[in-house]
Amino acid sequence: MKILFVCLGNICRSPLAEGILKHKLEEKNLEAVVESAGFESFHINEHPDKRAIKVAKRHGIDISDYSCRLFTTEDFDKYDKIYVMEAANFRDAKYFARDDNDLEKIEFLMGVIHGRNEPVPDPYFGDEDGFEKTFQQIDQACEKITEKLANNKL
Ligand code: 4NP
Repeated sequence: MKILFVCLGNICRSPLAEGILKHKLEEKNLEAVVESAGFESFHINEHPDKRAIKVAKRHGIDISDYSCRLFTTEDFDKYDKIYVMEAANFRDAKYFARDDNDLEKIEFLMGVIHGRNEPVPDPYFGDEDGFEKTFQQIDQACEKITEKLANNKL
């Protein structure tokens, strides 16, 4: 299984999701390709936001060497699932999709828990507490993804 997490900047939510899921899969000895990308070029090649690195570190996860890259159409060829954080990301990913097969790969991250399209709000313009909330929300979704992977139900 190949999973891509996508947000706007690829420096807060999607690198957190990448780090959290990789960590859970390692703990459970499960195999999957997990990466992240963004739609906005502000931070290309930069490492994640310091606050995202800090909250991940507090939970025993090192995302400090990840670097920001943009989503491309080829990502539909490389990945089985493309998890987006919110409606704007969904719309942007849809714009890149070439056909129904591509479209079917796009899902809201929180949809894995609730089966509905609740957003993971953007913590970038908020304070550090917001990053802990973001971490917890993404962690719940990644727990569910891990369960589904373990049971071959993703
Ligand atoms: P992310 O957060 O999409 O979770 O990485 C953001 C990061 C940077 C910006 C916006 C959102 N920005 O405007 O630079």
